[in-house]
Amino acid sequence: MNAKTDLSAPSSIAASISANAQRLSDALNHHMRNSFQPESRKTLRKFHPAEVSELTGISMSNLRTRHQEGDFPEVETDSRGRRLYTAEEIDQIRHVMARTGRNGEAYLPGRREGDGLQVISIVNFKGGSSKTTTAIHLAQRYALRGYRVLAVDMDPQASLTTMFGYRPEIEFAESGTIYDALKYEDPAPLSSVIRKTYFHNLDLAPAGLLLSEYETETAYALQHKVDPPFTQRLAIALDEVEANYDLVIIDCPPQLGFTTMTALLASTGLLITVVPSMLDVASMAQFLEMAGETVRTLEEATGPIDWAFLKYLVARFEPTDVPQSQMAGFLRSILLDQVLTTPMLKSTAISDAGMTQQTIYELDPGQVVKKTLDRVLESVNGVADEFEKTIQQAWGRRAD
Ligand SMILES: Nc1ncnc2c1ncn2[C@@H]1O[C@H](COP(=O)(O)OP(=O)(O)O)[C@@H](O)[C@H]1O
Ligand SMILES: [Mg+2]
Repeated sequence: MNAKTDLSAPSSIAASISANAQRLSDALNHHMRNSFQPESRKTLRKFHPAEVSELTGISMSNLRTRHQEGDFPEVETDSRGRRLYTAEEIDQIRHVMARTGRNGEAYLPGRREGDGLQVISIVNFKGGSSKTTTAIHLAQRYALRGYRVLAVDMDPQASLTTMFGYRPEIEFAESGTIYDALKYEDPAPLSSVIRKTYFHNLDLAPAGLLLSEYETETAYALQHKVDPPFTQRLAIALDEVEANYDLVIIDCPPQLGFTTMTALLASTGLLITVVPSMLDVASMAQFLEMAGETVRTLEEATGPIDWAFLKYLVARFEPTDVPQSQMAGFLRSILLDQVLTTPMLKSTAISDAGMTQQTIYELDPGQVVKKTLDRVLESVNGVADEFEKTIQQAWGRRAD
């Protein structure tokens, strides 16, 4: 008998898995403590005038003039006398412009009288297709642009929650996640799990491993016809807080289970991320087929689902990779203008920042080679801004 068939092996492997988990968790704790001090995580960096101008649409010269005229709040200056703005101050300036600027309304891009909350699911059933990366970058970009954003983590793996600096397995082991609001027995109001984040205008409904219970509980609830059914549970939970937000961005898990379906059915629009490789596209085709079938079955039972938009995002794109470019072209030839024109480029700035739970918006510009950062900002901002037009159209507005 060799070691592989030794009867004592399974339990020793089980023990070693637990030991590995413990060692990894300890090391991660250590890493997270060192890579970002929790107290400094609580604040967002400040922004330069050029960034404020880009985010608000106020020209640099107008920004300067209005400061001189005393219209805007006084802000901090750096050692060279350049102004530095917090995200809150940028928002205050937006509101001054809205009150006093020509076409003032344009400075406030969020919901107006009669506009419904937009709920957007970022979805694909393949892991590693950039869902979480897309969700957090869109959520942060829109928060900086002046939308009130709620990020909802619907993945029990809780990557999005981790990106906000939480350790879900420690902080939300028992409660405090979106699961509390979705569960069938004694659901909690969604407001009780929503956390303000260090990012102005951006709140989070966290996830944790407990959320995986929702799959089995939903199967049981369906058999026993528990009301309300999974098709309505997130939508109902969101009703409680909808007045506080313009946009909800949902990060979905990499399966088409009840959790994903719950997210999709609470959504007004979908964004499907796809890495343009043969395997990823084949997997997405399968996903679409299954999703289509599931949606048809649900529609037979509950009536039509009225999504306002469906878009595809070419993610982790490497323009110099010929097969990838061909695959991206192939996608566009079939899915036409449903594919966002701007791809999300693959960039070491994104993956490196991700290592320390940061996005390209949180990185201190001095930390990265300027050319690398500019290139990736152009790509991610381009994606967000293009998709923003789709959102604005859903409110019956043209944004250009
Ligand atoms: N555009 C990108 N450039 C570089 N790395 C990326 C990019 N998008 C995602 N990644 C990296 O790929 C990995 C998987 O991405 P993630 O967003 O977590 O995928 P998913 O949520 O679909 O599983 C992460 O390590 C992330 O940092
Ligand atoms: Mg993810």
